Amino acid sequence: MLPTMRVIVFASQKGGSGKTTLSGHLAVQAERSGAGPVALIDTDPQGSLAKWWNVREANEPAFIQSVFSNLFHDLDHARNEGFRLVIIDTPPAITRAISEVVSFADLVVLPTRPSPHDMRAVGPTVDIVEARKKQMVFVVNAATARARITSEAAVALSQHGTVAPTIINHRVDFAASMIDGRTVMESNPKGKSAQEIEELWTYLEDRLFRTEAVNAGWTGDRDALDVAPQMNALGRKAQAFGKRVLQ
Ligand SMILES: Nc1ncnc2c1ncn2[C@@H]1O[C@H](COP(=O)(O)OP(=O)(O)O)[C@@H](O)[C@H]1O
Ligand SMILES: [Mg+2]
Repeated sequence: MLPTMRVIVFASQKGGSGKTTLSGHLAVQAERSGAGPVALIDTDPQGSLAKWWNVREANEPAFIQSVFSNLFHDLDHARNEGFRLVIIDTPPAITRAISEVVSFADLVVLPTRPSPHDMRAVGPTVDIVEARKKQMVFVVNAATARARITSEAAVALSQHGTVAPTIINHRVDFAASMIDGRTVMESNPKGKSAQEIEELWTYLEDRLFRTEAVNAGWTGDRDALDVAPQMNALGRKAQAFGKRVLQ
């Protein structure tokens, strides 16, 4: 039997909020932490994530060439290929196509910069996620450490849904590492940025895990599940094999 494949969709109407940066980083981190094999899909016509992946030397995560209209089949193909996690990056838009991508998600991540413009723009994306009845997490991205607006943003977002407890700060290495197809975990593994991504992934994986438990009708506490490692939605102990799908 094939392992369960999970799908995380990064979505937000606002351009520049960090969808592409965090898609790439979390895919690499998921693979590093044993949640793979992981595949990335870029549904943004600008293709920033695809371009990043094309200059990347490492084999993992894999990349699936896809378009909106073929997503259903491509995800099915990924499942048959044994991928256990697919991360989908989306364009900054509110369209029917985005809503359809969200319909495939086990978890939707909505990156938001702590700025008034970004905060005001979350509504339509949240509406799409709610209409599709999907689990959603806000990630405060590109924050200035200790700035008051960062905590204010987290509080304001919490009125609309769950906010990831790990805030990703604004650091040049997030952009710089991606120039040659890498991530901060690869350019500066001991740095603060790498630590934030590790923490964020641990949190998101836990959300996926809970989603799985809720879907299975389980209502107890998480510790009870820890004694049954096969319940982990992403089976962290399994080895990644880094297979690529090129279509
Ligand atoms: N945490 C961060 N620190 C510094 N720069 C960031 C951070 N997150 C994103 N950026 C930069 O901001 C810009 C927009 O990010 P991107 O991930 O492309 O957003 P989106 O995909 O939502 O449009 C890029 O130049 C990226 O390098
Ligand atoms: Mg983008």
